[in-house]
Amino acid sequence: MNPLFNFTHTDTDKGTLEWRSPSNIALIKYWGKHGEQKPINPSVSMTLKYAFTQTEIHWSPKSSPSAADFEFFLSQQKVGEKFEKRVGQLIKIIAAEYPKINEKLLTINSINTFPHSTGIASSASGLSALALALMSLGKRLHGQDLSYDAFLQKASYYARLGSGSACRSVYAPYAIWGAGATANSTNEFAIPFTPHNDFLKIHDSILIFSKTPKTVSSSAGHELMNNHAYKQGRIAQANENTQNMLEALKSGDFEKWQHITENEALALHGLMLSSVSPVLQLLPDSIQFLTDFMAFRKGKGLKAAFTIDAGPNIHILYAPEHYEEVRAFISNWITERRRPIDVIDDETGKGAKELF
Ligand code: PMV
Repeated sequence: MNPLFNFTHTDTDKGTLEWRSPSNIALIKYWGKHGEQKPINPSVSMTLKYAFTQTEIHWSPKSSPSAADFEFFLSQQKVGEKFEKRVGQLIKIIAAEYPKINEKLLTINSINTFPHSTGIASSASGLSALALALMSLGKRLHGQDLSYDAFLQKASYYARLGSGSACRSVYAPYAIWGAGATANSTNEFAIPFTPHNDFLKIHDSILIFSKTPKTVSSSAGHELMNNHAYKQGRIAQANENTQNMLEALKSGDFEKWQHITENEALALHGLMLSSVSPVLQLLPDSIQFLTDFMAFRKGKGLKAAFTIDAGPNIHILYAPEHYEEVRAFISNWITERRRPIDVIDDETGKGAKELF
């Protein structure tokens, strides 16, 4: 329970509120959607700790209660038209339930703790922080009495409409999104998942092989699944992997976790490669690193797995007892291969939080 959550705000005329929401890394990948941002298969993710977005909304009265009026800044800079449009759309959707938002002039300031286009999903943390902040504002303006759980569920629902994977960022340490994964999982919003103790702290070292923004956006990528030759096979695979992943996470089975995590990462890239318009995102260095990582790991019984999102950067997930060994391997690889690449170190996080 967030202690600040039910704090009574008497003055709703103007004010400021702020939410922090983390990014997440999918172990079971969401790839392909239908209808209103509904996934074609369930997904499971680990919530991150240090990669997060902080979004502050300052509101004040507007002269006429027309459509939402807002200004959005990322790191004190105006964002591109495309992202501003996405922000405007989410405000409009949330204001349909909380119309008093339309009476306010909103100044929204957002900051990310991690650089853009690094293989960390900024849309997951960005859109979830925005959904949480807007929901919080709507709730205050309307004096709505909502339990913390109901609030998070609604925020996850709205975050999903902003960006699919964002709905999982509301929860920690892990989250499940999509019907059929568990008895109560749904396509509408994510639900939290707590694994075996051994999975409560997993390191994630992210090797940034390219900082160039993706050539194919994730929306365009999802679309490639619509008429993909392997669509039905992928849905069956993801459902089976989800069941096995949840079993592995519950029982503390690292071998199974490693096998499925890597199968999902490679399946995602296999799907991109085999789509009608092929998308090749792995770079020679990504492949070289994966080959060397697998050779290094061989026979050591390390609790370590790689995963990859829709880009060339590689996430190495591993248990704390292997920190020195895995981290040394990564550093030595960079030195020996003379590759000036950045590494971002993260780990399992605790989820979204209201700051004031
Ligand atoms: O939320 P989106 O539309 O950015 O899609 C995310 C897709 C992947 O990152 C590739 C997988 C996932 O489940 O996060």
